[in-house]
Amino acid sequence: MKDIITLGIESSCDETSVAVVKNGREVLSNVINSQIKIHEKFGGVVPEIASRNHVGAISKVTKQALEEANISFDNIDNIACTYGPGLVGALLVGVSYAKALSYALNKPLTGTNHLEGHIAANYISHKDLKPPFLCLIISGGHTHLVHIKDYGKFEILGKTRDDAIGEAFDKVARVIGLGYPGGPKVDKLAKDGKPTIELPKTHIEGLDFSFSGVKTAIINLHHKNPEINKSDLCSSLEKYVTDILLQNAIKASKTIETKTIALAGGVSANSYIREKFIDLEKQGYKIYYPEPILCTDNAAMIASAGYYRYISGNVSDLTLNAIPNLKIS
Ligand SMILES: Nc1ncnc2c1ncn2[C@@H]1O[C@H](COP(=O)(O)OP(=O)(O)OP(=O)(O)O)[C@@H](O)[C@H]1O
Ligand SMILES: [Mg+2]
Repeated sequence: MKDIITLGIESSCDETSVAVVKNGREVLSNVINSQIKIHEKFGGVVPEIASRNHVGAISKVTKQALEEANISFDNIDNIACTYGPGLVGALLVGVSYAKALSYALNKPLTGTNHLEGHIAANYISHKDLKPPFLCLIISGGHTHLVHIKDYGKFEILGKTRDDAIGEAFDKVARVIGLGYPGGPKVDKLAKDGKPTIELPKTHIEGLDFSFSGVKTAIINLHHKNPEINKSDLCSSLEKYVTDILLQNAIKASKTIETKTIALAGGVSANSYIREKFIDLEKQGYKIYYPEPILCTDNAAMIASAGYYRYISGNVSDLTLNAIPNLKIS
């Protein structure tokens, strides 16, 4: 079969990324231009600034991705871009650029869901992984338990009713003075601490999650006692969220009768969460997670998801628009 080359474009938040991926699984290039340094001083992403920086970066990043893959526009079979969920102004830059390329080069366009991309990052890191499986998407904006029934066929089994885990990590980190983005800093500091701080449990029926209570509890503890050990706070937060993730993931895996669980999204880079999920392998589970660079936003994962849309004939036309609250199923 002829190789299919996909150009992936990601601009949903503060990373301008363009990648070239062969047959959905082999990364030929994955250029990520992060704006973290620009947004750091504001303690979070400023949407208008993100959009402007995407506009300034996208052509250069695309050129670099083609050069690193050692191909030209002629070699591309499919152009995949994130069209949601994300910041509308940021998404529009990638969508407009992808549409312009598709029109000018007369190549197919596949609008791709960003969360589908996070899931597909696992296809790149693990050539043997195939649906069906259970995926736990833990990112800056989402905490979803998803049944991956087939490529492009998803059912959400549970999700957060308030904060996403990444959001809770980032907010706690900001209040206790660790800076932005907080997740990696919480991860590092927690290694020096112990999970000794008692945190109030939020009980939710079924497979949904809630993290705003624990976030507020930690922030209040810090306000009441600014001298409280930050490493212990971070370690306790990690243990709290991981226990709930494990509990619901195990419940969901029994419901859909699978022992294959893939982690996805930025928070799946967390070393404690990984370690505890890997422990499940002693109980016969098979645990997958992407390599760290593919956990946070990148265009290789979008190219992979776009490839599976392309080969199933699920292509877009030039009416494709950004959808900030796009759902996965
Ligand atoms: N090692 C880590 N431990 C915990 N959290 C982490 C780690 N590395 C990154 N994160 C968190 O991952 C999040 C970013 O992930 P990602 O890029 O997938 O989110 P997003 O794109 O902003 O949201 P979404 O994908 O839901 O739209 C941030 O909240 C960041 O703090
Ligand atoms: Mg993301």
